[in-house]
Amino acid sequence: MSHPLHILGISGSLRSQSTNSLLLASLKHVLPSTVSFSIYNGLESLPHFNPELEEPTPPATVVAFRKELAAADAVVFCTPEYAFGLPGALKDGLDWIVSSGEFTNKPVVLISASPLATGGEKALVSLETTIKVMGAKIPDGGTIAIPFIVKKIDKQGIITDKETAERLQQLMDVLIEFIPENKRTLEEM
Ligand SMILES: Cc1cc2nc3c(=O)[nH]c(=O)nc-3n(C[C@H](O)[C@H](O)[C@H](O)COP(=O)(O)O)c2cc1C
Repeated sequence: MSHPLHILGISGSLRSQSTNSLLLASLKHVLPSTVSFSIYNGLESLPHFNPELEEPTPPATVVAFRKELAAADAVVFCTPEYAFGLPGALKDGLDWIVSSGEFTNKPVVLISASPLATGGEKALVSLETTIKVMGAKIPDGGTIAIPFIVKKIDKQGIITDKETAERLQQLMDVLIEFIPENKRTLEEM
C-alpha cells in the first residue's frame, strides 16, 4: 500500500543555535504540504561506533536511527565543516549504517553551510564520498554549499537571501522528482 512521501532531515551540528539545523528546519516551508518531513534528533545519543557493540543486539539508539532511515523515502543532510572535514558526530552516525544498509538506493541530497566563503565544501565532498559508498543515490544538482550562512538566515530560521531560498527550493524539487515514481503519492501527480 502506498503512503505519503516522507523525507528525513539530518543535521551534522549538535549546537542548539546551529545555523545548519535552522536551515534544515526551514525546508519544510518549501516542500509540498502532502510531503511529511521530520528531523532526526538522536545523533548526540549514539555511542561511538564500535562494531563489537552490534552483538548480541545493537544499542537501542542505533536501532531507532536505522528505523527512522528505513521509514524515509529520501534523506536531506545539512552539515557544517569542522577542521576541513565532516563533524565527528555525523561521521560516527553514518558508520553505524554501513553494515545495516539503510542507505542502499536511498535518494539523498546534501547541503553544507558555513559562515566562511567556502561554504564548507570540503565537508560536502567528504559526505558525498561516504554516503555514495553506502549505496545512496544523489541526483544531478543534489549537492549545494552555502557560504556566508549567517548573513542569509535569521534567528527564526527564515532564509533572508533570495538566491539561497531559490537554490533550496530547487534542491527539494530535484529530490522529489528523483524519488522513484511508485513511491510518489503527491496529490498533484
Ligand atoms: C573547531 C571548529 C572548527 C571549524 N572548522 C571549520 C572549517 O574547517 N570550515 C568551515 O567552513 N567552518 C569551520 N568552523 C566554523 C563553523 O562552520 C561554524 O562554527 C558554524 O556555525 C557551525 O555550524 P552550525 O552553526 O550549524 O553549528 C569551525 C568551527 C569550530 C568551532
